[in-house]
Parts: sequence; C-alpha cells; structure tokens
Amino acid sequence: MADFDGKVVAISGAARGQGRSHAVRFAKEGARLVLFDICGQMSEVPYAMATKNDLDETVRLVQEAGAEVVSGVADARTYDEVAAVMQSGIDAFGSPDVVVANAGIWSEAGALWEMTPKDFRAVVDVDLIGAWHTFRAALPTMVDAGKGGSIIATISAAGLKPLQNIGNYVAAKHGLVGLVKTAALELAPHGIRANCVSPGNTNTPIFRNDAMKRLFVPDQDEPSDDVFLSRAAGMVPLGVPYMEPGDITEAVLWLASDHARYVTGTNISVDGGSAIS
Ligand SMILES: NC(=O)c1ccc[n+]([C@@H]2O[C@H](COP(=O)([O-])OP(=O)(O)OC[C@H]3O[C@@H](n4cnc5c(N)ncnc54)[C@H](O)[C@@H]3O)[C@@H](O)[C@H]2O)c1
Repeated sequence: MADFDGKVVAISGAARGQGRSHAVRFAKEGARLVLFDICGQMSEVPYAMATKNDLDETVRLVQEAGAEVVSGVADARTYDEVAAVMQSGIDAFGSPDVVVANAGIWSEAGALWEMTPKDFRAVVDVDLIGAWHTFRAALPTMVDAGKGGSIIATISAAGLKPLQNIGNYVAAKHGLVGLVKTAALELAPHGIRANCVSPGNTNTPIFRNDAMKRLFVPDQDEPSDDVFLSRAAGMVPLGVPYMEPGDITEAVLWLASDHARYVTGTNISVDGGSAIS
C-alpha cells in the first residue's frame, strides 16, 4: 500500500515545474489531487509563465498514473478563485490531507530603491498572500474534519538569507517562513503540521530564462548558458548549477507523510548548501 492511498493533496502552481513534479509523484503514491494554476502571464514577470496547456498536461500525467484529479485555473492572488477550486476538490474528495502552497514568481531584478511599487507588490501578492490564500481555503475544512494533516510552503534559500537585487522575493519568502511557523503553533492542537521546503536553484522555467541569466551575470549583455550555469554552480557549496524538481519533491513527500509525524514548524532546505553560504 502506497503512503498516500486515498489521501487528498492540493497543490498550487501545478501546471509545470516543481508543482507538476509533486503532483505526478503524489499520484503515483495513490493520492487524489486538487490542482490549480494561474495559466496566464503577469506583466510583472520577466519570463513566460505557465499556460492552460501546461496544466492540462499535468492533469494528463496524474491521470496516467492512476489518480483522480480536480483542476482549475485560479490566480493565487484572488482568494475567491482559489477557494472555488479548493471547494470543487472538497466536494469531490472530501477534506484535504495535504496542501502544498507552491506557486511563486519573481519580478525583474533591481535594488530595493529602484524597484517599482508594482513589481514589489506583485511578488508579495503571489508568494506570500497567495500562499496564505491557498492554506486559508483548505484549513477550516481540515480543522473540522479532525483527521490532522500537513501543509507545506515552498520557500527558497532567499527566504532564509538576504540576496541582493531580489529584495521583494526575499521579503515575501521570509514572510512566508513566519506565516508557516505561526500556522504550526495554531494548528498543532488539531494535529495539522506546517512546514517549509526551501529549494535552491532548480531546473524549471523560473530559473532557466534570460532575466535570471542577467541577474547571475550582470557584467555581460547576453550571457551564454555555460557562463550562467557556472556562475550559479559557483554560488552553491556542493557545486551544482541546479537541483531537479524531483529532488524537491522528495522533501515534500516526506514532510507530507506520516514518516514526519512529529515534524512541524521547520524547514528542509534542498539547495546544495546555498542557505549556509
Ligand atoms: N526554480 C527555482 O530555482 C526555485 C528556487 C527557489 C524557490 N523556488 C520556488 O519554487 C516554487 C515553484 O517554482 P518552479 O521552480 O516550479 O517555477 P515555475 O515557474 O516553473 O512554476 C511556478 C508555477 O506557479 C504558477 N503561478 C505563478 N503565479 C501564480 C498565481 N498568481 N496563481 C497561481 N499560479 C501561479 C506558474 O504559472 C507556474 O506554473 C515557487 O514558489 C518558487 O518561488 C524556485
């Protein structure tokens, strides 16, 4: 019997990248999935965001793995949209057992005193408030169900240490760590655990794009992939340019599982040592 047989797992930002990796793995472990994604471009984001085709592909993959799935287009910034998809999942499968607030963005890089208020706010809206919306939409039902559970927020090494020129992202992700720790205290009497997973650079479109290359290689106009990745590897103690999405999924699965039954209010970094360098 798989660890997540019959469990209900909700994931934001599930159209591609880490969200898709988590969804497919939970599906293989027997879970039923509730998935949503914005499936559209935000003007503040300097790389292509996911599409409806991407979300459809995730749905196809989890179904291929044998899972039942409820999915929808929802913007994590808009509570009513998130709550509508979550409620569809609850109507179909019952109360969630696991919620992964994975959706995230970054905006064009710049010092805090140069960044536009629009860019600053967009990142906080998605990465902090969007994660809260995702948890908020599921938690009353989870508390009422009285069967415990696990909520997990995707942070970043940038949620654990300062990084120049992405101050809005650093602020949002640090805020999310505080939110999760508070959730851990408030939810402990209900047997619901709350934890963070903090990826380092990971091989997904949020990292593999020209705007990110410019951030890592500010001294060159059009840096090659080789230069970009060697700079990225040089900043990581284990010397790897990136993790694969599946590396992050391993930590998410463990935090969600009963193997972590006494683990709450903490963080697992999967970052090659970035957070300590
Ligand atoms: N890839 C990395 O290098 C890296 C490093 C550290 C942390 N992270 C974090 O990991 C998480 C997953 O990112 P990823 O690496 O899979 O990147 P990604 O860009 O491939 O996936 C992010 C997904 O979130 C969705 N999304 C963005 N804004 C949304 C919104 N408002 N509402 C709903 N969905 C929205 C996107 O459409 C996309 O499908 C993010 O929280 C990100 O900040 C990524």
